[in-house]
Amino acid sequence: MIKGKVFVTGGAGYIGSHTCVELLEAGYEVVVYDNLSNSKQQSLDRVQTITKKSLVFIQGDIRDEDSLEKAMIGCDSVIHFAGLKSVGESVQYPDLYVDTNIRGTGCVLRVMSKLGLDKIVFSSSATVYGDPLFLPISETHPLAPTNPYGQTKSDAETLFQEQQNQSPNWKVMLLRYFNPVGAHQSGLIGEDPSGIPNNLMPYIAQVAVGRRDYLQVFGNDYDTLDGTGVRDYIHVVDLAKGHLRALECLVKPGCDVVNLGTGKGYSVLELISAFEKACRKTIPYKIVARRPGDIATCYADVTKSKKLLNWQAELDIHSMCEDVWRWQFRNPGGYSA
Ligand code: NAD
Ligand code: UFG
Repeated sequence: MIKGKVFVTGGAGYIGSHTCVELLEAGYEVVVYDNLSNSKQQSLDRVQTITKKSLVFIQGDIRDEDSLEKAMIGCDSVIHFAGLKSVGESVQYPDLYVDTNIRGTGCVLRVMSKLGLDKIVFSSSATVYGDPLFLPISETHPLAPTNPYGQTKSDAETLFQEQQNQSPNWKVMLLRYFNPVGAHQSGLIGEDPSGIPNNLMPYIAQVAVGRRDYLQVFGNDYDTLDGTGVRDYIHVVDLAKGHLRALECLVKPGCDVVNLGTGKGYSVLELISAFEKACRKTIPYKIVARRPGDIATCYADVTKSKKLLNWQAELDIHSMCEDVWRWQFRNPGGYSA
């Protein structure tokens, strides 16, 4: 049974491609709109291989409203992943981040209004909370982003809230992800960062596969169990399923904000150890200075996601590492190889 047609901006990317799998498997039609600035169309070919279903792909930029409008005609709801996500790059090019993540989101909202669409799920981030004042972090935690990327996510959230105030029929779900990792169990799709990975999991995976010599552990003098940073890693397949639930919960008008995490934190050294078990190799690492801007510990209060979405993460740290390793081992150079 076809449930409706979902317009997925940024659907060729890491989280988007995994969400397309879940949408197709659940019986939705999918239209992906992506400018491929940080992804390859091959990810979508593989989504179709996994699901044995087809989707529509339209290459375009969310800031091009004419193109966006043509592409969105006939869709019922939107999942808005498209955006830029590198903290370091956002410090270097703050205007580019404002243009893509805030103005681009404004374009998506205007085109939806024009076409009479009123259901949207948005990719926000735990980075909007900044330095935690308390743990676990609940949705009521004050927002205090510490970098331009986080500020653009917080400002984009405000755009959604304003939109919903102006158009009270709108149904909006703002999802604040903690640390997405993992890959589809098929080993066909996964995270494929361009250049040197900024994030811990893809860096570990590239060390394991021999693309990099060793991992730098940014500081072992935090106030944590072993001195290294603690994060709430969530399997991307769980995250993708969370989007499905969010979409299905867009029934009553309103604008809800929900954390998507596991509620459990792991240190850098714990993640290394779990990955070593998965790949059956030693991951060489060196302790270096703290990375500026990093916090000691961050993990989610998951009460609201359980209650509102009737969803909770199911895959543990071992599945996350095994699935990343399968993806990395079978695709040592990512999609391009
Ligand atoms: P990604 O870079 O793999 O996916 C984003 C996709 O958007 C890419 O395919 C890219 O080509 C596309 N895109 C970028 N700018 C565009 C534009 N102007 N027009 C059309 N398409 C454009 O990133 P991801 O990890 O899949 O993240 C998806 C969303 O989730 C992003 O909004 C990101 O900020 C957010 N998020 C990611 C993380 C994370 O750690 N991965 C954490 C929290 C929030
Ligand atoms: N780390 C290392 N070495 C590395 C990379 C990271 O030791 O090479 C450490 C960090 O210091 C931190 C932990 O591993 O303690 C996790 O770092 P990541 O870069 O993987 O993730 P962050 O928590 O810093 O940030 C990520 C995304 C943000 C997002 C945030 C919350 O990069 O965009 O998760 O969702 F906002």
